[in-house]
Amino acid sequence: MSKAAIILAAGQGTRMKSALPKVLHKVAGLPLLGHVAAALRGAGVDRIVVVTSAAGEDVRAYAATLGAASAIQQQQLGTGHAAASAREALEDFSGMLLIVNGDMPLITSDTISECAKAQGRTGLALLAFEAADPGAYGRVLRKPDGFLDRIVEYKDATAAERSVALCNAGCYAADARNFFRWAGALKNDNAQKEYYLTDVPILARAEGLECAVAVTDEVSVTGVNSRAELAEAEVKFQLRIRARLLRDGVTMTAPETVFFAHDTAVENDVEIEPFVVFGPGVTVKSGARLRSHSHLEGATVARGAIIGPFARLRPGAKIGEDAHIGNFVEVKNAVVGKGAKANHLTYLGDARIGEGANIGAGTITCNYDGFTKSVTEIGAGAFIGSDTALVAPVKVGDGAITGAGSVITKDVAADALAVARGKQVEIAGWAKAFRERKKAKKQSEQK
Ligand code: UD1
Ligand code: MG
Repeated sequence: MSKAAIILAAGQGTRMKSALPKVLHKVAGLPLLGHVAAALRGAGVDRIVVVTSAAGEDVRAYAATLGAASAIQQQQLGTGHAAASAREALEDFSGMLLIVNGDMPLITSDTISECAKAQGRTGLALLAFEAADPGAYGRVLRKPDGFLDRIVEYKDATAAERSVALCNAGCYAADARNFFRWAGALKNDNAQKEYYLTDVPILARAEGLECAVAVTDEVSVTGVNSRAELAEAEVKFQLRIRARLLRDGVTMTAPETVFFAHDTAVENDVEIEPFVVFGPGVTVKSGARLRSHSHLEGATVARGAIIGPFARLRPGAKIGEDAHIGNFVEVKNAVVGKGAKANHLTYLGDARIGEGANIGAGTITCNYDGFTKSVTEIGAGAFIGSDTALVAPVKVGDGAITGAGSVITKDVAADALAVARGKQVEIAGWAKAFRERKKAKKQSEQK
């Protein structure tokens, strides 16, 4: 059966106390909304409508990058009203509809599939979980036959109802046509004067349709409503990635100090030392070693390469096999060839470094003149002397050498030596004579 989904993302997210809409806050470098959309795609959902507020332009723009359509909920009158706002966008759709809160970054495709499967039993299903600390989640009350009796929102619940640990996760599955009929008939006679999505099952039952309850694990359905919950979601997400990578054969001596992005790809037999941080878009091949305190983003690291300690790889850094990028070296949009070395205090930006080249300490590619970025090319086997400034655009040929302290402004031929610095002048005895002159002057002034 074809599947479509509505992601609810029009809420004000008041508890975040943020100018940024809640669903654009990030976990592991990806907005909450991106996590939910990815999980839906993985569960075979090809059509997604994101419900946004009228002011949610940024959310709509982000939804478009995910290949999702948007609908506007003019006033935030509750989750049921929000879901109903997607009706027009899905008018031509018949099939299974999933409705998911946009604030569940740990949801997985498997979890969504559990909900979809349960829907097959009766025509309507929701996900629930046993909460260690149920807090303000809606409580799920079941009948003796296991089907849903009703959901009671925390604010509407009695003390006895609040003592129930089974909570509503915020993920529902229904036949699309039925769903919009029910959502359109919701009432707002409750503590918050809102149209609750959680009242849909009551309308379904009036038509003789039970709601199945799929109980899933708590971590996957963690909701984010505050900064504290955002931080908790990040912790849970990191634990999940670390566990997966350890299982896949990555060595980490202190995994709790290593932070990954949602899409970090690390092969087996990579060693990651403590305190390494990944931004999005990093791939690390087997046998590479990432030493302490390195920061990587948008970079690829080939087999056997060594990065750090204290290295920074920025977007477009491509580090070749067995290459070394050492302490306080920054690499941006640069290809570093096989076996090349830049071990100390260097900036390589917009550059191509040939195989086996040696980049001396303090080398800087001067890639930016305030207006344009220019490229530096360094040939295979070249040796760049310490403290060389390479004023791009510039090329250093294969096997060439630059003298330490040179400012290289012109291309250097293969196998040549380029020295571009003031010539050393030496005056014998000058220092001693200088000191004596100064000493004598000071003594005469003190008399
Ligand atoms: C909701 C559920 C609760 C469940 C919890 C799980 C309802 C009534 N309650 O509560 O049973 O335990 O999620 O996390 O559904 N939204 C809109 N428009 C609105 C209101 C909300 O789009 O008018 C969106 C929000 O952006 C959010 C989602 O719906 O992504 C859930 O809203 P939120 O306010 O977080 O609901 P909870 O109080 O968490
Ligand atoms: Mg919520």
